[in-house]
Amino acid sequence: MKITVVGAGAVGSTTADNIARKELCEELVLLDIKDGIAEGKAMDMMQTAALLGFDTKISGSTNDYAKTAGSNVVVITSGIPRKPGMTREELIGINAGIVKGVTQNILQHSPDTIIVVISNPMDTMTQLALQSSGIPKNRIIGMGGILDSSRFKYYLSVALHCSPTDLQAVVIGGHGDTTMIPLTRLATYNGTPVSNLLSIETLQKVAADTMIGGATLTGLLGTSAWYAPGAAGAALVESIVRDERKLIPCCVHLDNEYGQKDICLGVPVVVGKNGWEKIIDFKLDDEEQAKFNKSAEAVRGMNTVLAAL
Ligand code: 2OP
Repeated sequence: MKITVVGAGAVGSTTADNIARKELCEELVLLDIKDGIAEGKAMDMMQTAALLGFDTKISGSTNDYAKTAGSNVVVITSGIPRKPGMTREELIGINAGIVKGVTQNILQHSPDTIIVVISNPMDTMTQLALQSSGIPKNRIIGMGGILDSSRFKYYLSVALHCSPTDLQAVVIGGHGDTTMIPLTRLATYNGTPVSNLLSIETLQKVAADTMIGGATLTGLLGTSAWYAPGAAGAALVESIVRDERKLIPCCVHLDNEYGQKDICLGVPVVVGKNGWEKIIDFKLDDEEQAKFNKSAEAVRGMNTVLAAL
């Protein structure tokens, strides 16, 4: 098994670090456009192998895509991250050009790969990767919902004073501060609906905090977060390479599921060795469906930029 992570910034290198620690592949390539950074981070991570006890071989490459040849999975994290006060959407102009070029370079050397898109604005970048690659839709997956759901569980765990691992909670829709939809109605604490345990006001606050979860961290850190995005990216890759068939909220191309088509948006999907295997299309209530439609409209608005590329 061979995995490539494109972009050796904070999110890319943390994703790679998690992939190596979990030994998800024999060979892991970290690629970046900046001279020496991928080689340096790969070597630094390899020097943790004896301490952490993993056998994955990590190598770095400065923009030499030949080194990525034959990858089974490629994670794209390239592009600029947001600065405090910026939305993910504001990155679109610069990142679209970068992601399009990366996708084409990757496919030249790994035509059968599954692509995981993390670059922002993620929903539009996933649509772009699908459009510019022409590969089957099940091999393009945007990583956002799994991260947002983990943040949702974090905020719920604080409100409930419980372990985040005892919670089931899902965020669907876009990966944007105003487009994501934390499904509070369906969230449970080991099977008990959280709505039985928390007031409506608290649940609304948890949902609002979840939606600006990334922005809150950008404000604190001065750049976008990396530990949770890296762990989320690696968890998604794990379900692919170990064929776990986990049900994960991911950004995928919709064909009338949830009443939307011709758009990549976050929904619960089964993830396995073929990429995303199937969408679990369950009935939202009227309020949730209205939010989902609004989210689709906002993402569609951003996607119009792609026509000019
Ligand atoms: C985040 O939400 C990087 O989009 C990512 O932190």
